[in-house]
Amino acid sequence: MLKQKEIPFFKLNNRSAMPIIGFGTGSLKGEDAFSSVKFALEAGYRHIDTADIYENHREIGRAIKESLLSRRDIFITTKYHDSLSENVKDSLDRFLRELRTTYIDLLLLHRPAENSNSIGVSNFSIEQLNEALHLGFEISNNQIEFHPSLNERELQNFCSANRVVVTAYSPLGQGKDLSIKAVEEIAEKHDVEPSNAILAWHIQRNRAAIPSSKNKDHIKENLESLSVELSEDELEKIDKIGEY
Ligand SMILES: NC(=O)c1ccc[n+]([C@@H]2O[C@H](COP(=O)([O-])OP(=O)(O)OC[C@H]3O[C@@H](n4cnc5c(N)ncnc54)[C@H](OP(=O)(O)O)[C@@H]3O)[C@@H](O)[C@H]2O)c1
Repeated sequence: MLKQKEIPFFKLNNRSAMPIIGFGTGSLKGEDAFSSVKFALEAGYRHIDTADIYENHREIGRAIKESLLSRRDIFITTKYHDSLSENVKDSLDRFLRELRTTYIDLLLLHRPAENSNSIGVSNFSIEQLNEALHLGFEISNNQIEFHPSLNERELQNFCSANRVVVTAYSPLGQGKDLSIKAVEEIAEKHDVEPSNAILAWHIQRNRAAIPSSKNKDHIKENLESLSVELSEDELEKIDKIGEY
């Protein structure tokens, strides 16, 4: 097993420090959500990605409490959904109760709210981001689908130019990109798993990534990607996958 390094972070455009690898919980519900998040925290993850529509805030809140870690050592992202009949303030109050916390590190939504250190968006295109920036919103993060077979380089360049940190969701292409030949070859060369090669590519290309897994070996393995260093040539090979 590779030795895991301390998790580096992205400084968002306020005081928050977002660990570059997070644990995604999109498909985790009930006991699965509780035990996977608890295990991820034990394995060393300090960034948990959730959303109101994942319906797992309560289990995550319980896992964080039971981890006995200090709240300030964990970075929580959650997301406000536009379709809610509740207003943003009421939703945020409910999220805080469900997650058993007094603040959210990163709330992804369209407009600022209280009790949130930072405001981000998700699934915003260049045009939508441009419009929000022109309206004067300070946007710290854009969480977008990004993996070898879906390379959003142009959008990332636009984000970087505007000091918006990019987080790659479905960073492994929901598992499908793990069997891409170029990825397998690079992984083999480094004697690591394909997941490590893909996550190292995200990290070295300056994106946060939030892989999800129900499998303890995978949860640990994904974090170990921090110790993998790909050459520029290998990074370019993975960049090119999404261009065809
Ligand atoms: N903002 C948004 O609109 C949005 C949309 C979608 C997702 N997200 C976020 O992004 C997170 C991750 O996305 P995702 O779950 O769609 O896709 P993903 O993380 O790219 O892939 C998850 C899949 O890969 C497998 N996997 C994970 N690690 C592996 C490994 N080391 N080896 C082999 N297989 C592995 C998992 O299976 P096992 O369980 O068997 O390991 C699972 O089937 C979500 O949980 C959610 O937090 C955000």
